[in-house]
Amino acid sequence: MDRYISADRTAALLGGSAERSPAYLGIADGLRLLISDARITPGTRLPSERELTASLGVSRTTVAHAYSHLRELGYLVSRQGSGSVAQLPRTAEVGDMLLNPEPSGTDAVDLTCAAPTAPPGIAAAYDAAVAELPAHLTQNGYYPSGLPALREAIARRYDERGLPTQPEQILVTSGALSALAVVVRAFVDVGDRVLMESPSYPNAIATLRAARARLAGADIDQRGWATTGLVDAVAQVRPRAAYLMPDFQNPTGLLMDDSERARLAAALRKSGTLPVIDETMAELALDQAELPKPFAAHAPTTVTIGSASKAFWGGLRIGWIRSPEPQMGALVAGRLTLDLGAPVVEQLALLHLMQNREAVFAIRRDHLTTSRAALVSALASQLPSWCFRMPAGGLSLWCELPRAASSALASVAPSYGVRLAAGPLFAPEGGLDRFVRLPFTESPSQLTDAVSRIASAWEEGLSGRHTSRRAPALIT
Ligand SMILES: Cc1ncc(COP(=O)(O)O)c(C=O)c1O
Repeated sequence: MDRYISADRTAALLGGSAERSPAYLGIADGLRLLISDARITPGTRLPSERELTASLGVSRTTVAHAYSHLRELGYLVSRQGSGSVAQLPRTAEVGDMLLNPEPSGTDAVDLTCAAPTAPPGIAAAYDAAVAELPAHLTQNGYYPSGLPALREAIARRYDERGLPTQPEQILVTSGALSALAVVVRAFVDVGDRVLMESPSYPNAIATLRAARARLAGADIDQRGWATTGLVDAVAQVRPRAAYLMPDFQNPTGLLMDDSERARLAAALRKSGTLPVIDETMAELALDQAELPKPFAAHAPTTVTIGSASKAFWGGLRIGWIRSPEPQMGALVAGRLTLDLGAPVVEQLALLHLMQNREAVFAIRRDHLTTSRAALVSALASQLPSWCFRMPAGGLSLWCELPRAASSALASVAPSYGVRLAAGPLFAPEGGLDRFVRLPFTESPSQLTDAVSRIASAWEEGLSGRHTSRRAPALIT
């Protein structure tokens, strides 16, 4: 994988680091942070000592010292013919990357999982589904592509969003993660390169790693889409597939606009890369009235993954794939070696919910907007040094901490009665320890309480003053 960063770009990212004394340590520390944060993604070739010397205006010995210090710390490796390549010291294993949404069974506020509870109307949708069940009992119950009426309803929703779609282009799955597993079976071979945003969704990272794909993370900035970085990464990596979330990206909540979609789609087309677009959060717009068209409107080969889990309820376990028809055969084949279809009652229930979509979404939006406001105001008063960009949708804030300590914070947080997902979980190639994801799916009072606990953990637990403390009772 031939990725590189120019000397001028490295110098720009380093800013004033070289002005510190001793200069070699300033440069080494600056580079270490850039690599840890995946702003220089591991696997990237750094400029030669000579080139960086010229761009920084320091002596060659200073840069040589900085590089050798980074090699000792495990952040650089010298590869024959490739110069110095960024890497992370080995720590976490693949299994450590999974987010497990199972309730923890403790009374700690669980902020590891960004999944809302069911809105009103779910039980009524199940009642209606059960009432319709007798009509299906004369069949064998297997619908490997999905119930025809649900495929039709999902296709109509794409039409409404500006992407004409036939029901034959829809494959109903047992959730979006299962949809990704089907896509990987159909289109990603062992050793294929897959580009992802960094940060990305942990269980997608783990799914792709388990398939032994070679992951490349393209740094996106929490302040906005770094489309140039993504486009450059596509050109440099020439990946087989790109797994991306342009619609309220998990975890940053970023929404990619139409012109950025068009630019990225052109780059993917040029490199022959299959866009795999996860739209799990697409229906969770909180502020924006006018939404961009689905990514597939710009890139016709796109395989789109959708889910009922966040807009409706995770317990339905229903998701889907939308794909151009010529790719459907490979997807159905991928599906038939995984499971043989999604449950009939759940598909019928989702059909009812979709008929009532606007009412359900309005309730969802209200709840999330109120919870987001409570989280933002608690952070402003209790952790003012934490930065985040207000997301226009989705389920979480991606917070930047004043120092790289999110793993340490996540490990002390349970003894303060709160569980957190640290930044490195979201990093396809390591790093991101300066970030933590805070979902706003809990109630305002739980979030306010959780932030107090986090603030205590941050101020007391990480300062070494913390000894051992019982989790306070949950305040609801
Ligand atoms: C981006 C993204 N994709 C997929 C999933 C999994 O969704 P499902 O419950 O439909 O499998 C999630 C859940 O958090 C998610 O955030």
